[in-house]
Amino acid sequence: MDASDLKLLPPDIAEAAATFEAQLDACGTLDALMRLKGTFTGREHSLAARLMEALKAAPKEQKRELGALANQLKNAWEEGIKGRQEALEAVKRDHAAAASRVDPDLPPPMPLRGALHPLQRLQDRLVGIFAALGFHIEEGPEIETEAHNFDGLNIPGDHPARGSSDTFYLEQHPDLLLRTHTSPVQVRVLRRLAPELEARGGIRFVAPGRVYRKDDIDPTHSPMFHQVEGMLVGKGIGMQHLKGTLEYAMRALFGPATAIRLRPSYFPFVEPGAELDVSCPLCGGKGCRVCKGSGWVELLGAGLIHPNVLHYAGIDPEVWSGFAFGLGVERTAMMVSQTPDLRLFFENDQRFIRQMGGLD
Ligand code: DAH
Repeated sequence: MDASDLKLLPPDIAEAAATFEAQLDACGTLDALMRLKGTFTGREHSLAARLMEALKAAPKEQKRELGALANQLKNAWEEGIKGRQEALEAVKRDHAAAASRVDPDLPPPMPLRGALHPLQRLQDRLVGIFAALGFHIEEGPEIETEAHNFDGLNIPGDHPARGSSDTFYLEQHPDLLLRTHTSPVQVRVLRRLAPELEARGGIRFVAPGRVYRKDDIDPTHSPMFHQVEGMLVGKGIGMQHLKGTLEYAMRALFGPATAIRLRPSYFPFVEPGAELDVSCPLCGGKGCRVCKGSGWVELLGAGLIHPNVLHYAGIDPEVWSGFAFGLGVERTAMMVSQTPDLRLFFENDQRFIRQMGGLD
């Protein structure tokens, strides 16, 4: 076919026919090729279809020549497209084969396995240690009443912790707050179990959970953190029981060589109140950066349950006594892992979590 043949055609078909080869070469994908196929040889509105219409409408003396030309063009288009389609399909097959080729020497692509957060694991360990001593697990709500969070714990009405600068109160319900410690669980459990106390012969539980304080976020503060509360009520319970229990627990947590000491301290809900130090888990008591050379690190608050707390819950302090303690999970985790910044526990950076043994 030469250029003079094309003169017989409507001008736009002539132009399309002249550029067919170039357009065919430009089709890099099967999708593009299918669009080209539609334009040139599609059943309706294609150039080939219009060519047939032009042929029908052509004057008699042109029909022969135009018919031959139309056939020739249509065949050329169909064949060109078919050839290109085979070539593109072959390329696609090769790509797919290359992508699925297995190299048996490579390690298999393992999916990332989820794991418990390091704080959760420490909390579980702590709870497990006390569970082995017969302490059951209690939980309380994170939204608490002032009565549970303060009154029932013998915290006076003018205590600074009650102020809205330290505690989150609910705007719509000013009598409700986000608990500032896990100690309100003491009040709930004591009140609930008071009627069965004699039949049970006592109470022992641990209560892990989230607590909230109006602190700005910095390396050692967070407005939300975790505590584990513990409590035991029985007859004739004294400091010796507190000390023995905590010594056992700290050795289970930090190793059998761990020593503890109790220093007098003040918490309104215990009397006497104490702070518990453990021999530094990192240097074993010799003195290092973590224990600031003293050999001891402060770990938790504890004491003998204040008679007012028992009384508030409807328990006779003349008959029953007990001990309580409360420990900060983040603080403990930071100490054992020498993590200098609390925020690392909340940022979910997998590199950190992996270092903590939280991910496999
Ligand atoms: N609730 C105290 C706090 O958040 C910790 C605490 C101290 C809990 C002494 C106790 C305790 O049960 O006996 O700082």
